Amino acid sequence: MSSTSIPLPEAHPTGTPSAGTPSAGRLRVVFVGHVDHGKSTLIGRILHDTHSLPDGKLEQAQKASAAEGMVFEYAFLLDALLEEQEQNITIDTTQIQFKTAKRPYVIIDAPGHKEFLKNMITGAASADAAVLLIAANEGVQEQSRRHGYLLSLLGIRQVVVAVNKMDLVGYSEETFRSVQSEYREFLEQIGVVAHAFVPISARNGINVAGRTPDLAEPNPMPWYEGATITERLDIFEPPQPLGALPLRLPIQDVYRFDHRRILVGRVESGTLRVGDRLVFSPNNKTSEVASIENWSGPETTVAYAGQSVAITLKEQIFVQRGHVASHEERAPIESNRFRARLFWMGKRPLRIGQSYKLKLATQELDAEVVSVDRVIDASTLETVQGDRPFIQRNDVAEVVLQTRGALVMDNQDSNPFMGRFVIVDDRQVAGGGIIHGGVYADRSKIKSANIYWSEGNVLPRNRALRNGHHGAVLWFTGLSGSGKSTLARQIERELFNAGRQVYVLDGDNIRHGLNSNLGFSPQDREENIRRVSEVAALMADSGLIVLTAFISPYTQDRRRAREIVLQGGHEFAEVYVEAPLAVCEARDVKGLYKKARAGEISEFTGISAPYEAPLNPEITLHTGTLSIEESVAAVLEYITPRVRAVVEDEVVI
Ligand code: ADX
Repeated sequence: MSSTSIPLPEAHPTGTPSAGTPSAGRLRVVFVGHVDHGKSTLIGRILHDTHSLPDGKLEQAQKASAAEGMVFEYAFLLDALLEEQEQNITIDTTQIQFKTAKRPYVIIDAPGHKEFLKNMITGAASADAAVLLIAANEGVQEQSRRHGYLLSLLGIRQVVVAVNKMDLVGYSEETFRSVQSEYREFLEQIGVVAHAFVPISARNGINVAGRTPDLAEPNPMPWYEGATITERLDIFEPPQPLGALPLRLPIQDVYRFDHRRILVGRVESGTLRVGDRLVFSPNNKTSEVASIENWSGPETTVAYAGQSVAITLKEQIFVQRGHVASHEERAPIESNRFRARLFWMGKRPLRIGQSYKLKLATQELDAEVVSVDRVIDASTLETVQGDRPFIQRNDVAEVVLQTRGALVMDNQDSNPFMGRFVIVDDRQVAGGGIIHGGVYADRSKIKSANIYWSEGNVLPRNRALRNGHHGAVLWFTGLSGSGKSTLARQIERELFNAGRQVYVLDGDNIRHGLNSNLGFSPQDREENIRRVSEVAALMADSGLIVLTAFISPYTQDRRRAREIVLQGGHEFAEVYVEAPLAVCEARDVKGLYKKARAGEISEFTGISAPYEAPLNPEITLHTGTLSIEESVAAVLEYITPRVRAVVEDEVVI
């Protein structure tokens, strides 16, 4: 292979500023608002008033509208520009630029909130600031709320609200103030700070890039003394240049050439220098950069964010596509569980527990959603709190994801590129998400400021390879007499016979020892389950498959058990052992129901204390109708593939 035939990845997509590129210092602004609220007119106005239009464009658009017998509108300017860009396939049609005296801007137009969300989440476009439009004559509408909400969801913190069409309400200060106070209150509720409300007339050019389009004209809103739209945008903070962030070089390919290994990829953030010591995640092997290849030009010793590079290393270590190179002291997060906000646009709903392909940078891993905290329907903004077995098209969900194998990532707010992923279903991008940690952030709050759990010298991976399986917790819940202990014991036997490391934690036993000081009040049950959760998590960490058999009647407590185990990075499955109360009572193995009915036992679950049935357990076993063998088989079928340890094909080259 000739050296020049090594294909380098494309440079950064437009709109991603980085040190050393002309786009540095640009602010990316998204305009959100109902089309009828004057979005295109405002954009047209800004382009015109900041003199950002190509020469002759205005006249051309004016002529074109005259030819069609229409009165000229500034919105036409935008249409004309977009049309032109569409013919030029190399330009991203959604991005239009303008410039103030202070800096350049890129407008990210959001045709609709779904497209906007999709673009933001999948990384087609991301914004540093937003202009949110509300028409003064219509006031705060459902759409305005929805848009505000989307900004909050995407973490866009720099927001200016343009109260447009002031000319249609006689430039009334009172109307402006009432829109402002109503919308400000709403934004506060959802945690968005609107930095300013600006009363404007986009059509007449009032308070857009100047007070009035012509200084000679009287200002129709002398009562407003604040900044214009562009003055306000000029105050916003520029994004941190990608060059200032820690180095991230996702490896795209490894080529063998002249007995050398050439690693190819794009520097997504940070700076790379010859002589740098790099660590390659997730296998954490290190080596030094020997050279940055540059066949066509002079010798290069440094590469910046946005540049594609081909490098060689001093020590030959095993590196493959998907690995991410960074500097040791500022390495990315590596985990197989994380919290994310996910936008789903697949035709088929996203099913919890089902395996999908997840792509982040050059990594591609199998992944599944393990739990859902919140689902928001992006078209109605209706929020569904709590567990749901699937996520529908156009839903935004806050979820915990799990990947097969370690995923290298960053939280989105610390590194946008490495904090964003897409999900593929049926060979199409069906969803995207942004990572915001959470699972691990919780742990850091409790145990240390560090995101990592102190791992010791024996890594979970080492234990898993020796045992042939990972640690896991199967959490059995159900009424007394439903069959939890019987099934857990039977499954323990089966797993043990199959060579697995397995152990049952049983309510009756634990209450004799560790929890002998606890009774059956809600508080005591909560503490009972908390301790058991922690113990189970530790045992799973030691490599065991743990089966817990506790009534655990409260959803909240079981939810916490899940969190504790997931935080440890282990598989958790809730097994609902379901049998009608009448069946359990008829079985009455321990004679306790009889006593409870007779009033000899107080706070007895199902009789005088509640049992909150799981809403979305991984497994439900109807023991009233299933045989023990059938139930055992169902659990084994579920857990076996999930704990299997795969010996990675690690070869040092
Ligand atoms: S939990 O509610 O805190 O999860 P756990 O599973 O530990 O309960 O203990 C339940 C076992 O304790 C039952 O199987 C039963 O044998 C015994 N028991 C004694 N009193 C009660 C009671 N009031 N309610 C439920 N179980 C009880």
